[in-house]
Order: sequence, then structure tokens, then C-alpha cells
Amino acid sequence: MIEIIDIYKSFGDNKVLRGINLVIDTGETIVIIGRSGCGKSVLIKHIVGLLIPDSGNVKVQGQIVNEMNQKELYHIRKRFGFLFQGAALFDSMTVEENISLPLVESRNGYSSSEISKLVEEKLEMVNLPGAQNLKPAELSGGMKKRVGLARALITNPDYILYDEPTTGLDPIMSDSIDTLIKELTDKLNVTSVVVTHDMYSVKNVAHKVAMMHEGKIYFIGSQEKLINSDDKVIQEFIKRTEVKS
Ligand SMILES: Nc1ncnc2c1ncn2[C@@H]1O[C@H](COP(=O)(O)OP(=O)(O)O)[C@@H](O)[C@H]1O
Ligand SMILES: [Mg+2]
Repeated sequence: MIEIIDIYKSFGDNKVLRGINLVIDTGETIVIIGRSGCGKSVLIKHIVGLLIPDSGNVKVQGQIVNEMNQKELYHIRKRFGFLFQGAALFDSMTVEENISLPLVESRNGYSSSEISKLVEEKLEMVNLPGAQNLKPAELSGGMKKRVGLARALITNPDYILYDEPTTGLDPIMSDSIDTLIKELTDKLNVTSVVVTHDMYSVKNVAHKVAMMHEGKIYFIGSQEKLINSDDKVIQEFIKRTEVKS
């Protein structure tokens, strides 16, 4: 379980998070939506201690992340997979080298044949079998996201954080990434947090939707409740994002 308890975060005069409260239960997929610049990325960076709140707490399985030292952070981060915005792959490395990076960094003591086996397994999971020796330049946008996803999965995480996983993809590609996220969530029983501005993703993957607005969680509930809401801010957001995508 992830608990975000009344967190505040400002950058200078920019008050980005103004009392965020959110509980994410084990095994659920929550989608976080909100206008560009409203603080979605800032919020999920707090979950793994990449940002520290000015006040409030972030707890993962009861442990307060914002009070952890480097060693404790390192351990908690091993339980997370990230697919951050841009899904940055290293151009000079092969797909296999990119995917195995978190394993190499965590010095888990795997042999190279064990690593190859794990990479092969994850590539199959994301429907890219045999892509080990390709370079990022040889991949389409959708394939790059899949490789990013395989990298996020390589340590068998309990939690996966996705920041705009379908941004920059065409609708068909987006749809197949959404399907994959949903399949993986069901199959691996992971807890997933998906940040998106894409209403189609909301419809495809969410168990629960949280909408951020003016530094707070403005709405939380099912996608049906969101779509059928007669709240003006929510309606405007939905209209805007559906026109764009
Ligand atoms: N490291 C940082 N330093 C200063 N300002 C930041 C930093 N990270 C984000 N911000 C600001 O916080 C606000 C929210 O950003 P972000 O969380 O990236 O929005 P989004 O909802 O689009 O993901 C923006 O105004 C952004 O400029
Ligand atoms: Mg963002």
C-alpha cells in the first residue's frame, strides 16, 4: 500500500502540491490525471523519494519514504519499476543492455547468462521477443516504450510507476501499450500508478481515477463516475483531452 498524507511541495513561489491525500491499495491500478503542469510528475517522484515534501508524509508499506536515508531508499526503490516520461533509452546500448541496466546497477550478482534469460523473459512479456541486439535507433516509438516497460519489469517489482506511457504515440500504439499495462497488472499482481493526460488510457486501464487540480486531489473514484460527473472542472478537462487525442 502507498499512502500519501497531506503533502505540500513548492518550488520557490510555485506552490505545486497543496495538501495531497491519496491511498493506493496493493494490487490496484490507479490513473492520475490533470492538466499539464499541475504536478502529476512531481507527485509520483515523491513516491520513490526523488523529491521530498515540504511537509506531509509518503508511506510505502508503512515506511515513511521521505525520512529514509540513502541505504533505505535504495532498498525501497528496488521494489519499484519506473517508466518515466520519455522512456529514455541509451542510444549506444543494445536493447538487452538497456533492459538489464537496473540489475547491473543493483549488483545483484547475476551471471551474464542469468541476465540474458531474464531479459528474454521480459521481452516476451512485452511482445518483443528476439529484440535483444537491436539498438534504440532501430525501434519505433511504440517499441521503445515496450523496451522501457521491460526495463521497468526486470527486477520483478511490486509497484510500477508510469509517467505518460502513451505520450507521443498514435492511437493504435497507445491502445496496445494500454492493453499491455492492463495485462501485466493482472498477470503479475503489481500495484500500478499511471499518470496520463489521455482519456483513452483512463478508460482502458483504470480501476480508480484521481484527478489533480490546484494542488489537490479534486476527484477520486471510478471512471464511470468521472465521465458522468456534472462538475464543470471535470467536464472541461475531459472535453479538452478528448479533442486533443
Ligand atoms: N525540479 C523542479 N524545480 C522547479 N520546478 C519544478 C521542478 N519540477 C517541476 N517543477 C514545476 O512544478 C510544476 C508541476 O510540474 P509537473 O509535475 O512536471 O507537471 P505535470 O502535471 O505536467 O507532470 C510545474 O510548474 C513545473 O515547472
Ligand atoms: Mg509530467
